[in-house]
Amino acid sequence: MATKEIRSWAYDELIRSPFALPQGMLGRLAGRLMLWLNDPGELVTLIGKADSVLEVGCGPGGLLRNIQAKRVCGIDPSPDMLRQAARHNRGRDVELRLGTASDTGCPDGGFDVVVSVNNVAMWPDLEAGIHELRRVTRPRGRLLIAWHSATGRSPIARKNALPEEKLARIDHALGEPTRRYELKNLTVLEKHCQR
Ligand SMILES: C[S@@+](CC[C@H](N)C(=O)[O-])C[C@H]1O[C@@H](n2cnc3c(N)ncnc32)[C@H](O)[C@@H]1O
Repeated sequence: MATKEIRSWAYDELIRSPFALPQGMLGRLAGRLMLWLNDPGELVTLIGKADSVLEVGCGPGGLLRNIQAKRVCGIDPSPDMLRQAARHNRGRDVELRLGTASDTGCPDGGFDVVVSVNNVAMWPDLEAGIHELRRVTRPRGRLLIAWHSATGRSPIARKNALPEEKLARIDHALGEPTRRYELKNLTVLEKHCQR
């Protein structure tokens, strides 16, 4: 099966990568690599204690597996990734379903923490995605947007880092005030939702 092309707000060209919208054999291989390469430890600490957590673009479910909350939910547009996430979270009470950043299918204010890791630059419409994720974050909840860091220890992170003006656009879409964290391989923008 050919890898689907994605038109994203962040790049001038169409993206064609099994990491962007994993499907078929290459997509499943990409999912395995994500599980192998990504260390969720620091992000789990940043998420902290929360009753309910939604991960948007959960991929093969490596972060989900490490989140301890009463309600853990993951959405992704790729059925292949949801199947891997289900396998990887076997025996855990994790809700998994199809969805995108701009159409999560979740109710208003449903989650204490909403997190997106390494997919914000693949969304077709940044502002629509942020608007939707703010909608599903409860009042005084937190929205965390993480992307490969320019100062990351891994060459993959450094190669895929976004330029400052793109990070500034995410920051602007989140709305003031935001906080920025530099983790080992991720830059994380955090928004405390006031509503
Ligand atoms: C590089 S993978 C990252 C997966 C996972 N978050 C991780 O860090 O291992 C990107 C994921 O984003 C998903 N994705 C692509 N477009 C998306 C969109 N518009 N909204 C949400 N997720 C999307 C892909 O299906 C894929 O699973």
